[in-house]
Amino acid sequence: MNETRDSHASSERSESAGRPEAGQPAASADRPGAEPSDATHFGYQTVAESQKAARVAEVFHSVAARYDLMNDLMSGGLHRLWKTFTVGQAALRPGMRVLDIAGGTGDLARAFARRVGDTGEVWLTDINASMLAVGRDRLVDDGCLQPVVQCDAESLPFPSGYFDRVTVAFGLRNMTHKERALAEMQRVLKPGGRLLVLEFSKVHKPLQRAYDVYSFSVLPWLGKRVAGDEASYRYLAESIRMHPDQETLKSMMESAGLCRVRYYNLTGGVVALHEGLKP
Ligand SMILES: C[S@@+](CC[C@H](N)C(=O)[O-])C[C@H]1O[C@@H](n2cnc3c(N)ncnc32)[C@H](O)[C@@H]1O
Repeated sequence: MNETRDSHASSERSESAGRPEAGQPAASADRPGAEPSDATHFGYQTVAESQKAARVAEVFHSVAARYDLMNDLMSGGLHRLWKTFTVGQAALRPGMRVLDIAGGTGDLARAFARRVGDTGEVWLTDINASMLAVGRDRLVDDGCLQPVVQCDAESLPFPSGYFDRVTVAFGLRNMTHKERALAEMQRVLKPGGRLLVLEFSKVHKPLQRAYDVYSFSVLPWLGKRVAGDEASYRYLAESIRMHPDQETLKSMMESAGLCRVRYYNLTGGVVALHEGLKP
């Protein structure tokens, strides 16, 4: 894992229509400078904005039961290190209030609950009932009695200025209006609170070819063999390529009102952890 801070990662993605080359996203309504439009992307497909959430929901209803196993297989266990790094960076103290958005099966929420103790709160949230049900059961099995709420990150049912930390791991990529979701995350943070966004990002150039072969051949094959669902894992590979790169996401977080935004490239930029402070 490469934990060095890299504030000079390249931002060399080109705007192109239709199915892009691997690592080259098509024009996206999520990125600054893109044409306003009611179309967005679902992987490499262009879909109406109103359809994206339902398409994403199908993916996560389909994969929920095998999600944790697939995560270990696909990443060779690396997702555990990425999450451990995130938990360390969150620097939680007893009594803090934490919101885990798109928390799914609850890896981060369980680790957070141990750190904030009985006086703290960790809210596990997700838009998808199937993912959240797995996460809730795992929290309970772990002896963590924390609130679990089904909600959309783009419209959070929490008061402004409530949380010390807000986290979102591998969730932002799936959201239709990322700017709206980031603004909501900023809103619910206390002044001085921190947002942490763990997400797939743009890999360093020497790794790109091997990463493309892995993503577009091995991942769908694993999805088919283990989860009986090739399409969802093809969506995973495509959605990663369509997600804003390190510098673009940093700018988006700044536009959402966060300051001192910085990021850490992990595993050669396969994943990046972005952090920002609410002034
Ligand atoms: C790849 S999973 C990540 C789960 C967990 N955070 C982890 O790191 O293992 C992505 C999650 O994002 C959730 N999600 C997608 N769109 C969302 C939205 N608009 N609001 C809240 N959650 C959303 C999905 O339901 C799914 O559970």
